[in-house]
Amino acid sequence: MQRALSAAADAPGYPTAAGTPQLRQAIVNWLARRHEVRVQADAVVPTIGSKELVGLLPTLLGVRAGDTVVVPELAYPTYDIGVLLAGAQAVRADAVTALGPARPRLMWINSPANPTGQILPAEHLAKVVAWARERGTILVSDECYLDLGWDAQPVSVLHPSVCGGSHDGLLAVHSLSKRSNLAGYRAGFVAGDPRLTADLLEVRKHAGLLVPWPVQQAMIAAYGDDEHVETQRARYSARRDDLRKALQDAGFTVEHSAGGLYLWVTQNADCWQTASALADLGILVAPGAFYGPTGERHVRVALTATDERIAAACRRLTS
Ligand SMILES: Cc1ncc(COP(=O)(O)O)c(C=O)c1O
Repeated sequence: MQRALSAAADAPGYPTAAGTPQLRQAIVNWLARRHEVRVQADAVVPTIGSKELVGLLPTLLGVRAGDTVVVPELAYPTYDIGVLLAGAQAVRADAVTALGPARPRLMWINSPANPTGQILPAEHLAKVVAWARERGTILVSDECYLDLGWDAQPVSVLHPSVCGGSHDGLLAVHSLSKRSNLAGYRAGFVAGDPRLTADLLEVRKHAGLLVPWPVQQAMIAAYGDDEHVETQRARYSARRDDLRKALQDAGFTVEHSAGGLYLWVTQNADCWQTASALADLGILVAPGAFYGPTGERHVRVALTATDERIAAACRRLTS
């Protein structure tokens, strides 16, 4: 990836918002090879990492004041930011049954989830797809942790077992930040309903939301290779085993955490007290309340520190 980036450094011209045909094809091939998802190349739009897309998507799709957007009960905070920027109203819900007859413009789901690591099974996803289609709600699935399933196999919203073979009303958001440990390159994409990706492309083109050409070349290298993902997965898996055991030995209960880069843990105490006690040991965690009111008694522990730092944290937890 580094070699592909630097070999492409002589790139003074503007890149296109659609990305090169080679990049789109590399993404199409990867989705088919690794996730049994078939999309056409014109149903893929590269993004400058996925956070910009999450923050701008409601605005780019024309969500406005008076519209409602559903976000998960416990969620990556940028979904809310995107709703605020569009001037719309966010509603937190996990179960569609809790939403009654509402017809939201857009709904976010995220599996494996940040912060909980929860993986939504295909049957659950299929019900959400049906619910969204009945209401004309655009369903957007943030799948940036899709390659990081541990206790279950995560499934894309674009998988035929979930969407019935049609991508109508659906978008899947992906990132190389987690899969390829490439957050610094800002590289991701959105794929799905070709009418929605065409709309997005049109607006992104005129807003100058373009992935730099050298980064596109690095993305082609990344999506063309699975070995580095397995190597990195093995590192995360070993850290996860060690941290999980140390946290349990220290009296924490680990909940969900079936996928992704986090352990979602509780001592049944206020999250700020727990975060503060762990900070006294030199261990930094995220208080669960950052992600929604129902996270008040949990903290999120990340697997992203180095092996040496994770080992030190485990020693401190159990000594
Ligand atoms: C659920 C989720 N979505 C999106 C992102 C954004 O990642 P990036 O902008 O690096 O692709 C993150 C980053 O932590 C995340 O946890």
